[in-house]
Amino acid sequence: MGLYRAVVQPLFFALPPELAHRLANRLLGLPLPWGRIGGAEADPALEVTLAGIRLRNPIGLAAGFDKTCAHLDALGRLGFGYVVGGTITRVPRAGNPKPRVVRYRSRGSMVNAMGLPNPGAEAAARTLARLPRTGPRLASIADEALDDALATHALLEPHVDGVELNASCPNVSWGRDRDNEAHLTALLRELGARRRTPLFVKLPPFRAEVEREVVLALARIAVEGGADGLVCSNTRPVADPRLAVGAGGLSGQALLADTVRIVDEVRTATRGAVPIAACGGVATAEDALACLRAGATTVQVYTGFVYRGPRVVQELTAAIASARRRTGAGLGTPAGP
Ligand SMILES: Cc1cc2nc3c(=O)[nH]c(=O)nc-3n(C[C@H](O)[C@H](O)[C@H](O)COP(=O)(O)O)c2cc1C
Repeated sequence: MGLYRAVVQPLFFALPPELAHRLANRLLGLPLPWGRIGGAEADPALEVTLAGIRLRNPIGLAAGFDKTCAHLDALGRLGFGYVVGGTITRVPRAGNPKPRVVRYRSRGSMVNAMGLPNPGAEAAARTLARLPRTGPRLASIADEALDDALATHALLEPHVDGVELNASCPNVSWGRDRDNEAHLTALLRELGARRRTPLFVKLPPFRAEVEREVVLALARIAVEGGADGLVCSNTRPVADPRLAVGAGGLSGQALLADTVRIVDEVRTATRGAVPIAACGGVATAEDALACLRAGATTVQVYTGFVYRGPRVVQELTAAIASARRRTGAGLGTPAGP
């Protein structure tokens, strides 16, 4: 953590967030020794099977860091057990007007209103086809129209180990004002007959009782519709006048307590039928362990990776391996349900 926290992170954070992100992606395109820059504990105690996908460790990179899927090879080399590229839609999107990302440095958080900028499914499929596979990789997809979602899935699926359905982005419309339950049901029914790889559904977070009911209903629909896993959760909608669109999704430390609670509630509501990836606010080993103890099979990170740097996977995997050696199988569900 030393060099990144002392030198690299202050340089990145001196730049506007999106510029820093573009720079990070440029660097990831260089043939640097990513395995040494990052790294992960190699220990059989860390191996998990996520809906049939064998992972060397349970730490995943969450969707949105590599929106074009162009650097999933370098990100895999950093040590992640799996990486999620995208979110990708059928046709390219420019996303929302800028500024669309702001940091809350003292709180280890960010707010983004990216609006899913991405190169579109055809371009992403071409990119994935030429990229070496350095570990398991998923594609995150989200389309408003059923036909578009099916086409995006068909284009990307041959190049990935599984697909994550983003049913939760706060910055596009179908997370809010469409009939989400009907859309998800239809999508799962159509995909059920076609898909060959595991399908994960990324749910929105919830706090108020009414949100809780909506999200738990979506979770049950996902499981009954044949989804192989759930991701809990995405960012929390907040207002922020510094963003051009005035509101976005909060990520980072502030989400952790909700993430642990939501994993527990979703696991209970779905009776542990499918594995859960915890996502939201994980930055430290304690955070990751809390999610696994709540019943998550894997843990995804985004903002924690931005704040803590490429050694974060090493730190998290070392702590999980040592906790698993101490407590045996009592931690999460190492082999998946
Ligand atoms: C700048 C930014 C862009 C994101 N883009 C996406 C995206 O395209 N698709 C998606 O499912 N989640 C996206 N997310 C949400 C993350 O995948 C993750 O669910 C969320 O940030 C909570 O995890 P964290 O606290 O570890 O960051 C994005 C997050 C950030 C900060």
